[in-house]
Amino acid sequence: MADQYVAAIDQGTTSSRCIVFDAAGQIVSVAQREHRQIYPQPGWVEHDAEEIWAAVEQVVREALASASIGADGLVAVGITNQRETTVVWDRATGRPVHHAIVWQDTRTGPLLRRLESEYGERRFRERTGLPLATYFAGPKLRWLLENVDGLRDRAERGEVLFGTMDSWLIWKLTGRHVTDVTNASRTLLMNLHTLDWDPELLDALGIPAAMLPEIRSSAEVYGTAGGVLDGVPVASALGDQQAALFGQTCFRPGEAKCTYGTGSFLLLNTGESPVSSSHGLLTTVGYRIGDRPATYALEGAIAVTGSLVQWLRDNLGLISSAPEVEELARTVEDNGGCYVVPAFSGLFAPHWRSDARGVIAGLTGYVNKGHLARAVLEASAWQTREVVDAMNAEEDVTLRRLRVDGGMAANGLLMQFLADVLDVPVVRPQISETTCLGAAYAAGLAVGFWPDLETLRAQWRQDAQWQPAMDPAHRDRELRNWRKAVDRSLGWVE
Ligand code: G3P
Repeated sequence: MADQYVAAIDQGTTSSRCIVFDAAGQIVSVAQREHRQIYPQPGWVEHDAEEIWAAVEQVVREALASASIGADGLVAVGITNQRETTVVWDRATGRPVHHAIVWQDTRTGPLLRRLESEYGERRFRERTGLPLATYFAGPKLRWLLENVDGLRDRAERGEVLFGTMDSWLIWKLTGRHVTDVTNASRTLLMNLHTLDWDPELLDALGIPAAMLPEIRSSAEVYGTAGGVLDGVPVASALGDQQAALFGQTCFRPGEAKCTYGTGSFLLLNTGESPVSSSHGLLTTVGYRIGDRPATYALEGAIAVTGSLVQWLRDNLGLISSAPEVEELARTVEDNGGCYVVPAFSGLFAPHWRSDARGVIAGLTGYVNKGHLARAVLEASAWQTREVVDAMNAEEDVTLRRLRVDGGMAANGLLMQFLADVLDVPVVRPQISETTCLGAAYAAGLAVGFWPDLETLRAQWRQDAQWQPAMDPAHRDRELRNWRKAVDRSLGWVE
């Protein structure tokens, strides 16, 4: 019998990828394509869902071709995606009614202030595990219903459909209108306890139930694909950060990973019951395999980490490629007293302050571009430290070790600094494509390609580990300086 494979589609914020994996969880082929970032006004970010679908079809074709297989070589395909980004499309024509509103978009600020004064944040937080922030999908959908002509009437008649990117892709592939629990848990509309849409929250946000997808588990066959993946079961969907948690095989309570991409997202497995946070973390669904109970997670979401390095490259021109930041940072011994707080669109966890803006603090005539590069890298570690402090402040939660992945996990200087400021070992796996791997694992489990979680766990291999080595007094001094810089960023927008 010919070898069989599982494919994963990762529809991310800046690009779409397709990776083909073999039975050992090793990468056979990869294809990737970027899509446009559309900025109609400051603070607004949109994507063209049609352009994204075309990119997805293209990367699937390329990944199959470079693996030298056809769709019939795949036992299943899994989907993972940028979360919260909101699409509405016409059920009959399949055409989006508006550009997708991206998770980073802040246009729903005034709406959220209205919701907060009308209903109070507690009502949303208790049921959904989320604060009232512009980040989440439900308010973006409400904005579309209010601002696209005739959309509310059409939604009530069931003529238009809502979905996050997982739903959009599954619908394009199979014609089924479904989402998974992890994506639904980022809408402010799903009740974390019932794992279903919450009628009172739908009412508060004015969302017609007729336009919502059915919420399914993260690993089951939703339908069979046509087109480029003709005949392949579409067998998993997870938000990208949850997929990375799964790909890192953090299956036991207390295990955590942080993915360093444009932003960074630290997720800690909390087991079968949701832990509500009183320190600025999100409570979210980690994954749900078929009809087994859901596994929950606490999440620290950081909006800007890798994109700060891109800013250094694109807006300041201090480096010509992102990896060069490490070389530049290594030209100096330390940050020279300089700290960068990248609150470009406010601060996410644990602050949730949309009134914050970026600052560079501690400048003197001594500071040069090497120090600035170092401060840029250190900002990712300090923001992670704030999230870890919030986790450790929750009852019964202690982070003892952190698994890392994503582009910036390749940066050895940053990873050592991270271990130093967190004071726990930092560990990187051999397969750094954990997001796609997690979606492939979930899809493979759903169709019996892999028998169980333990088999997947046994496939995890360490590539590198960093031990904390910083003098505690030095760490405390640096942390105090970082906190002073964060204080200066808060309240900038009136
Ligand atoms: O919540 C947003 C997150 O899912 C985006 O991830 O990697 O596409 O920037 P990424």
